Amino acid sequence: MKYDCKDLGQAPIGKDRILWADDRMPVLRSIRERFQKEKPLGGIRIGACLHVTTETANLMRTLKAGGAETALCASNPLSTQDDVAASLVADFSIPVFAQHGEDHKTYYQHINAVLDYEPQITMDDGADLVSTLHSSRAEVLENVFGGTEETTTGVIRLRSMQKEGVLKYPIIAVNDAQTKHMFDNRYGTGQSTIDGILRACNILLAGTTVVVAGYGWCGRGVANRAKGMGANVVILEVDPIKALEAVMDGFRVMPSMDAAEIGDVFITLTGNIAVIRQEHFERMKDGAIVANSGHFNVEIDIEALEKIAVKKKKIRTDVDQYTLPSGKRINLLGEGRLINLAAAEGHPASVMDMSFANQALACEYLVGNHGSLKQEVISVPDRIDREIANLKLTAMNYKIDLLTDQQARYLASWDQGT
Ligand code: ADE
Repeated sequence: MKYDCKDLGQAPIGKDRILWADDRMPVLRSIRERFQKEKPLGGIRIGACLHVTTETANLMRTLKAGGAETALCASNPLSTQDDVAASLVADFSIPVFAQHGEDHKTYYQHINAVLDYEPQITMDDGADLVSTLHSSRAEVLENVFGGTEETTTGVIRLRSMQKEGVLKYPIIAVNDAQTKHMFDNRYGTGQSTIDGILRACNILLAGTTVVVAGYGWCGRGVANRAKGMGANVVILEVDPIKALEAVMDGFRVMPSMDAAEIGDVFITLTGNIAVIRQEHFERMKDGAIVANSGHFNVEIDIEALEKIAVKKKKIRTDVDQYTLPSGKRINLLGEGRLINLAAAEGHPASVMDMSFANQALACEYLVGNHGSLKQEVISVPDRIDREIANLKLTAMNYKIDLLTDQQARYLASWDQGT
């Protein structure tokens, strides 16, 4: 079996951590048990480009239990957990091509190594696998009959491909399932972003001014968690509806140039480019902390920071301190890569449980509907979304009511008014 990971000697630590996460992923586990019996993915080759974490390992185990042949590479150069990569290879015989801290060239070599397996289904997080496949490995497209996409940024990229008429096979937008974005993006990113910042800097959030750029599901999550820890939270938005929502949720909303002067910690989660730029750095307070939790490292204009700084020092493992000509110091976390995975472990297992249950069931759906889906970005069927919510509630020991017959009839009617 081919693979490229750092050190197989780390496998025992990785295995323990994978099993620890598995205990917190009851929905995925129940799917794995069913897959083991029914083999719905029998013989299907799945190429996955995901953050190589303990949670992803349990997804890979589930796909394999379903009969799939899988190969995995990283969806970010800094998010790979090397012990997990080692264990997937050594304990679960799953080929992994990922090393924490790999350079740009190796990152793409690893994506290509997964494409060499000629996947029939692609599973992506950010759409780098799909865009490489379409732009430079078109010969592999022939056998691909479906794909899944995990994250907001990836879904946006895929919709652009669809609009330009270049998307060559159906891809399920797992991100858009309610049991994914309402929980993973909000509570997962909310908690893990704060976790990453605290692990990187060990600061007290209470009493600090935290500027959150972007008030989508992820931004809302981070803003609320920071507020809960006693920070004064300021929101930056370009969308008037989201800005209004932030105002009515009780946050201060202002232009980025005003926030630059008052923020202690800046966190970008917009999915857009150059959100924090030279003019912001120059206005910031001495000691300001700048982090990104959006998918790509483009939200902070690091080039501009490098250009204006007179000195750069790695002051802690995940903190680069830049000194400006004025003597002010700006602390950039995790090289501007998504901080929850660069400095922490990503979202906790119990929320990835639902995201990855969507991934596993989306694959089963692609196989079951092979040949009948359009070459476009498609939704996770509502039936699957609801099944996952029900399984999660059951696993958490919650019961809910069912509609009475009278209520169901009422909801289906139109002629009963006041
Ligand atoms: N994205 C965010 N957190 C993650 C995790 N723990 N595993 C895989 N992908 C993630």
